[in-house]
Amino acid sequence: MLDIRFHGHSTVQLTAGEHSVIIDPFISGNAQATTKLADIQVQYILLTHGHQDHILDAVELAKANDATIVATHELATYLGWQGAKTIGMNLGGSVALPFGKVKMTQAFHSSAVVEGDQKQIVYMGMPGGFIIEIDGKTVYHAGDTGLFGDMKLLGERHNIDLAFLPIGDHFTMGPKDALTAAEWVKADYVVPIHYNTFPPIKQDGDAFIAELAEKDIRGKALKPGESFSLS
Ligand code: NI
Ligand code: MN
Repeated sequence: MLDIRFHGHSTVQLTAGEHSVIIDPFISGNAQATTKLADIQVQYILLTHGHQDHILDAVELAKANDATIVATHELATYLGWQGAKTIGMNLGGSVALPFGKVKMTQAFHSSAVVEGDQKQIVYMGMPGGFIIEIDGKTVYHAGDTGLFGDMKLLGERHNIDLAFLPIGDHFTMGPKDALTAAEWVKADYVVPIHYNTFPPIKQDGDAFIAELAEKDIRGKALKPGESFSLS
């Protein structure tokens, strides 16, 4: 059985038996998060790109859990310099991990760390998403992205059971484009992410789920801290 827990924003934790992996941990900086960082136990931390609202707690979690960060080569190198164990990879590639396989997909977005005090923007490689095979299930986490046509290819090449899609608009797809994304990736079940955390990305998650249902796609707008399971 695969346990899926939403920690708010784009932070998702997948647990199957002894294996647990978290994607884009942003908890300590999220006023809506209900989870304590110290309560999270994972072996792997997947990062879609280098923005603060996706990597904020990655190094602390990695150190506390002796966990490994998986990210693009540049982002992995940067976080490795901060003392985290890392695996660097890149778009289109996969890595075999103890719980299953992780493939990095493309995302149309940007990826950099802004060093405000130095007025420097540090390049973190391409932004991405992940297709995660765990416990016999295929999970797609789109990361931050606009709609792109090759999502159809993901739907053709992978039998996606569950997709996490951003709906916040402004920085990523909005609900209308995410609806099309849900159709293109042919996900059986869709969970919206990356909305309501900040004023510019305010959206109605339940309205999105209702529109999905009209297209015969199941889904749920999870509140921070909520979980469900796929068996
Ligand atoms: Ni971003
Ligand atoms: Mn973001």
